[in-house]
Amino acid sequence: MSEKVYIFDTTLRDGEQSPGASMNAAEKLRLATQLEKLGVDVIEAGFPAASEGDFDAVSQIAKKLKKAEIAGLARTGKNDIDRAWGAVQHAAKPRIHTFIASSDIHMKYKLNKDRDEVVKTAVESVRYAKSLTDNVEFSAEDASRSDRDFLCKLFEAAIEAGATTVNIPDTVGYAIPSEFGELVKYVMEHTPNIGGTVVSVHCHNDLGLATANTLAAISAGARQAEVTINGIGERAGNTSLEEVIMALHTRPNYLPMETNIITEEIHSSSRLVSMITGIIVQPNKAIVGANAFAHEAGIHQDGVLKNPMTYEIMKPETIGLNKNKLVLGKHSGRHALRSRLSEIGYDLSDEELNLVFKKFKELADKKKHVIDEDLEVLVSEGILRTADIFVLEYLHVTSGTTVLPMASVKLSINGRSVRDAGYGNGPIDAAFNAIAKLTDTESELLRFSVSALSGGTDAMGEVTVRLKENGLIALGKGADPDIITASAKAYINGLNRLEYLKEHPIQASQFM
Ligand code: KIV
Ligand code: ZN
Repeated sequence: MSEKVYIFDTTLRDGEQSPGASMNAAEKLRLATQLEKLGVDVIEAGFPAASEGDFDAVSQIAKKLKKAEIAGLARTGKNDIDRAWGAVQHAAKPRIHTFIASSDIHMKYKLNKDRDEVVKTAVESVRYAKSLTDNVEFSAEDASRSDRDFLCKLFEAAIEAGATTVNIPDTVGYAIPSEFGELVKYVMEHTPNIGGTVVSVHCHNDLGLATANTLAAISAGARQAEVTINGIGERAGNTSLEEVIMALHTRPNYLPMETNIITEEIHSSSRLVSMITGIIVQPNKAIVGANAFAHEAGIHQDGVLKNPMTYEIMKPETIGLNKNKLVLGKHSGRHALRSRLSEIGYDLSDEELNLVFKKFKELADKKKHVIDEDLEVLVSEGILRTADIFVLEYLHVTSGTTVLPMASVKLSINGRSVRDAGYGNGPIDAAFNAIAKLTDTESELLRFSVSALSGGTDAMGEVTVRLKENGLIALGKGADPDIITASAKAYINGLNRLEYLKEHPIQASQFM
């Protein structure tokens, strides 16, 4: 019988550490609900000591979800552990995840502690966490660059103090698969009391090896994989959930492991993360990229038509792609909309459905076929952004070969309508200038990108912007059949996210 690998999803914590990927509480709650539907065993919902906003989001998730374990991250030390416990205590299955660095370089330069002090701090913290809950995970940060025997000694002490999961992170994405597999084996063989404890791994993707390292670790005996959807996370990101899951699913002879993941939920989870964070999935990304199942070469197309398995090692349906592709249009009613939304992963309340239905009708008037990607945009704009400070009410632009581009914009700011006009070297520049004036903001536009959600000239244009103001960075996303409106929506979304960051400052220092 195959063994079980627990999936610990950290999209809401390490994933949120991707530059500009901060999410508000409503977005985190929505994503956590989808992660539970996907079947992840543990959701690391955030780092409650980092900010009031994160504390609130983690506690809302803990109160709402009933199946998944909810973990809160905490540095060693009473204050962080109290914050983590305060946020997760109402969960059906709470977990405290505490960590301290174990590599010589981190201990010397970052912690200014020697090995004995690190062991003592870890033991005190795990013991304290254990006095609050039975479910305690301990991580040795930068484990892959730590002295192996010291690592085993640290884990032995943490397990003795009550840790039920010990995690081996490759914090800086430095490990090579064979080396990382050997490290896991070494730890399991040289930590005397490790039996009965779940051994976990947490890999970063700096050398593009996070998935390979995670699989090598599972082969060596690790039974918890820490992952994120789309592989988002600090720097080059974390191990991607969908890659690990589909590798286990596709190669059971080599990796005879079971998970609780419902693979058909992978595609909608990936889209939701991209919608919420504004981080676009690269087209050639394994499993969830737009080209992952697209066959371009004639010889491949011919083979796939004769037998899909000639060039397809996985079926698109397995990750939830193409399931009954139903196209909606202006004659579609509320019932059809609700049922399609539910099929693609959104079970809306009546009130939420009303909001989305109104937007759906407006879109269907402009666009003949409303596809799943359009619906995702409507849900994201209609429901997830309800707490926005700035809302676009009206945009009118004039531009062309012989006129100075001009935009007149009406916004609602905290419910109060204001309007103004701006000029620029193009209609988008003009619209952005008018919006900046109205919102009294001075953000710098670091990146601007446009793509189409589908083929055809009536396709929705999807715009992503990256904004910087007073050292804060936020991504903004907007979609509309009109590319200038999409740009204005993306800019306003980015400004709203900056406002959110201003109101929810990160209190804990950057630690990884
Ligand atoms: O990368 C890392 O080491 C971490 C730990 C907190 C697990 O994210
Ligand atoms: Zn990490």
